Amino acid sequence: MVGFKTFDDLDANGKTVLVRVDLNVPMADGKISDFTRIERIVPTLQELRTKGAKIVLLSHFGRPKGQPVPEMSLRPIAASLAQYLSCPVEFVHDCVGADAEKKVQDFPDGSVILLENVRYYAGEEANDVAFAEELAKVGEIYVNDAFSCSHRAHASTEAIAHIMPAYAGRNLEAELTALSSALENPLRPVMAIVGGAKISTKLDLLFNLIEKVDCLVIGGGMANTFLNAKGINVGASLCEHDLANTANEILSKAEKIGCEILLPSFAVLAKEFRAGAANRTASVEDVKSDEMILDVAPESVALLEERLKTIKTLIWNGPLGAFEIDPFGDGTVAVAKAAEALTRNGTLISVAGGGDTVSALAKAGVTGGFTYISTAGGAFLEWMEGKDLPGVLALNSDAT
Ligand code: 3PG
Ligand code: MG
Repeated sequence: MVGFKTFDDLDANGKTVLVRVDLNVPMADGKISDFTRIERIVPTLQELRTKGAKIVLLSHFGRPKGQPVPEMSLRPIAASLAQYLSCPVEFVHDCVGADAEKKVQDFPDGSVILLENVRYYAGEEANDVAFAEELAKVGEIYVNDAFSCSHRAHASTEAIAHIMPAYAGRNLEAELTALSSALENPLRPVMAIVGGAKISTKLDLLFNLIEKVDCLVIGGGMANTFLNAKGINVGASLCEHDLANTANEILSKAEKIGCEILLPSFAVLAKEFRAGAANRTASVEDVKSDEMILDVAPESVALLEERLKTIKTLIWNGPLGAFEIDPFGDGTVAVAKAAEALTRNGTLISVAGGGDTVSALAKAGVTGGFTYISTAGGAFLEWMEGKDLPGVLALNSDAT
């Protein structure tokens, strides 16, 4: 695991601490639809308050591309934050500039202040040092508690950590600890379940995983590309026919390294991609030209459940079927429940992450039973790909 400083021994009393958080929360009809990212930053903020710090929150929301977009203001999030922290959260209309600095200065120690969206400035995504220096003027110490933004080399996640004393927050620490225990130094055997529509977006991930895990389960649309590469007719299924060679390369490399790859052998088939479409279960060898594979079938789920009983660590990214339309999420839900039960029995360490994955697990009602669920989307994927995360690396070198 990369090294970083936690704020265990930090004397934050009377100090203004800039905390980068990820308040890029999912919204539906103008309301926050999932509070997990807010819940996860509470320990860091409470701890800093107890230490007597003045807390200034930095975050982005959406992708306003360097200019103020009123719909992407962080202002509406302050009230929810206040509820979770049981204290007022003051909103400041800008994240840099003399006026914002003065407003922050005028609040008493112990205040929690939320600054406006850092992506209102182009300097943020450009990782511009001058912009990071402007941000740094607002506080004295920097804490990154936004693991889910750490794959971005942006001013508030990367450049700023080089110009201020920089620490990891508790949420970032928990994410890294959980993820490292699943891939870097795991209890074996390790299984990875990777699903989702396309392999083209997950090639780096697949190549990295076959070197790290003992068993790789491929599901979702991606599996069709592999089945097709093996000469199986997948009918009208989503399939990247042009990636057959790459899929075969992954299969043969995995075999050489000794990573077992499991593809579905039974599938749920339908002629239409819509909720409630008429469907049937069959062997993947028996897909008609007008049929699509939309989920793993109970026979394959049962095999996977058996295999899971022999596994000590599971890392999961991506649904196994078209989980967003009923009933094609059933396979994912069943496997998630099996993983949850084994975790509760204490025989499995289960770690999951990625946007769709977390929604799928929430739909299965198992999020409470997994060992760890990452709040990260892109950062989780890049970490699974074995890439360095610039926001985490930057915490290694501080300017004190
Ligand atoms: C996320 O939601 O994954 C993070 O907040 C990063 O957002 P981004 O993909 O817009 O950089
Ligand atoms: Mg994203």
